[in-house]
Amino acid sequence: DDTKTGVKGLVDSGILNVPKIFIRPAEDLAADELNSSQKTIEVPVIDLSNIGDSIWRKEIVNEVKIASGEWGFFQVINHGIPLSVLDEMIEGLRLFNEQDLELKKEMYSRDSAKKVKFHSNFDLYTSKTADWRDTLQLTFLDSDPDPSQMPPVCSIILGQEFASQFGQKLYEIYRAETLYRIESCATKENGGNLSSVEFNPSLEALFELLSEALGLQPDHLNSIGCSKGCSTVTHYYPPCPQPELTLGVRKHADAGILTVLLQNHMGGLQVLHDSQWFDVHPTRGGLVINVGDLLQVLSNNKFKSVKHRAISSQVGPRISVACFFSGHASLLDKPFGPIKKLISEANPPRYEEFLLKEYFAKFFASSLDSKPPIDYYK
Ligand code: SIN
Ligand code: FE2
Repeated sequence: DDTKTGVKGLVDSGILNVPKIFIRPAEDLAADELNSSQKTIEVPVIDLSNIGDSIWRKEIVNEVKIASGEWGFFQVINHGIPLSVLDEMIEGLRLFNEQDLELKKEMYSRDSAKKVKFHSNFDLYTSKTADWRDTLQLTFLDSDPDPSQMPPVCSIILGQEFASQFGQKLYEIYRAETLYRIESCATKENGGNLSSVEFNPSLEALFELLSEALGLQPDHLNSIGCSKGCSTVTHYYPPCPQPELTLGVRKHADAGILTVLLQNHMGGLQVLHDSQWFDVHPTRGGLVINVGDLLQVLSNNKFKSVKHRAISSQVGPRISVACFFSGHASLLDKPFGPIKKLISEANPPRYEEFLLKEYFAKFFASSLDSKPPIDYYK
């Protein structure tokens, strides 16, 4: 029953020492020493404002190509989602996590069939150590029924366009907190009338840039369903009394196609580049984009799925929202592999085709830091 209050519950109980289950293995802690050094380069930040101008667009596509191929990570600014929406999302999640523990406990679940669940560490029982964070997880597929047919909990969170427009998605998750009866958050100025905010469907635009960066027609990745099949994980990283002993999220690479991440101003996300950890500095209004294992496969290794982690801190909370795009549900039963147009004699396929259904089954049965579920390297 203790786990139901999450890591925040531990912090609120006044603990001064991190419980053993959260302590990183000694060899892990020692390896960190080797990784720290002076850095003069930074994770790329890409400005999307002039995406419609053909000259600028070429430049932007080139930046996306370099960032995806060399870093596997970049931030986008001027993506069209209003700053107020991003701020309200973070604030909504703060209120969700800081509400009465008893109410949160009611939401606690480890049932994979549940579409809305609160817990910490989805892999608590399969990994060696636990991470210093709490998680609210939302999973919806395009094949899900009309939101109006869903129980109230789901219809509040879901929008018609939920899975294809990440702006919409972020907004809807913000709305999720109203579920938990923290109405004070529905900002007084807006009178709770947030639905009047207009969104730029920027997710598909992003996949167009990625397609072009691969030398494909702009609609290629969208047409094969890349921007579909969305699940959202929101993290709350409470302050930690001994941050050097534990991590917010262990080193891992993302299993899906693409991840879009919103983070608050606290920082802590780090990416591995040239065997060193680089901070992804929070950029006001920025969204972090990263290539997942499946996009690495699709791109036949032109794009890299890169390991990353979130460190703990004595100050907090750090709050983040990750939207994982795993592809349209219809892809699950079809052979999945590198895009044929990217294959040539000079560029033979680096992967054999596999079934996404089996791939995801493996992923969810293992822990976050276990090896990727692709045994298909050629
Ligand atoms: C993750 O990569 O799983 C989460 C990263 C973050 O919270 O910044
Ligand atoms: Fe991740």
